[in-house]
Amino acid sequence: MAFVIGYTGETGKSLIQELNRRKLFKKIVLIGRREVQLDKDLGPEFEQRVVDFERLTEHKDTFQGIDTGFCCLGTTKGKAGKAGFIKVDHDYVVNSAEVAKSVGCKHFLLVSSYGAKKDSFFLYPKTKGEVEDELKAINFDNLSIFRPGLLLCDREESRPGESCFRCCWKPMPQCIVKASAISTDNLAKAMVYKATYPSEKVEIIENKQLYDLI
Ligand SMILES: NC(=O)c1ccc[n+]([C@@H]2O[C@H](COP(=O)([O-])OP(=O)(O)OC[C@H]3O[C@@H](n4cnc5c(N)ncnc54)[C@H](OP(=O)(O)O)[C@@H]3O)[C@@H](O)[C@H]2O)c1
Repeated sequence: MAFVIGYTGETGKSLIQELNRRKLFKKIVLIGRREVQLDKDLGPEFEQRVVDFERLTEHKDTFQGIDTGFCCLGTTKGKAGKAGFIKVDHDYVVNSAEVAKSVGCKHFLLVSSYGAKKDSFFLYPKTKGEVEDELKAINFDNLSIFRPGLLLCDREESRPGESCFRCCWKPMPQCIVKASAISTDNLAKAMVYKATYPSEKVEIIENKQLYDLI
């Protein structure tokens, strides 16, 4: 069994399509703050469950007995403010991992970010780096940390800065794209591959290594 947190986002949507295509899990619990209309092509193994991320310890039953957890949760400082960003990208992620581990999660797969570094001066890489370290301390049997650069996707939500970056990346040579950007579909493929074949207890997969897994 697997769960996916952040399944309504761009990476999450690609991930559930890939999971649907591969049929590796008999049950996939989609955990979010709201219910959405799911793609009608998804198989019967998918089930949505709504949780209050402020009270995750009260939702242990949602995570009960699920061995593999995918986390694609995140927001931006622009959208949620500094405190909101830390709450989602740090607190909700770490709390979900702790609750999941307490009720049986063995392998946790996290979408972190290129440049994650806990002693960075900047909020974004610092928060991502702190989360990575705290997840290592949770001591899963396997922890896979993905560090994509720019995510290439047709984002539903308007993020002008990101769209501008994406346009600049289009004409770049392949070697630059491979080092610094990946489509959410390819990231999803790499995540599902690692869920199937974890190689080390803690593994950090940088953007360009993602291309070796797809
Ligand atoms: N964008 C990039 O180029 C980029 C690059 C490197 C790494 N990353 C990281 O990759 C991860 C996935 O990014 P993405 O662009 O796929 O994410 P996204 O499209 O912004 O989706 C974020 C997900 O998190 C959920 N979420 C946001 N705020 C929440 C809240 N307050 N409570 C509960 N759930 C909340 C969203 O749920 P709702 O649908 O309910 O809002 C959605 O499912 C993030 O951690 C991001 O930092 C992104």
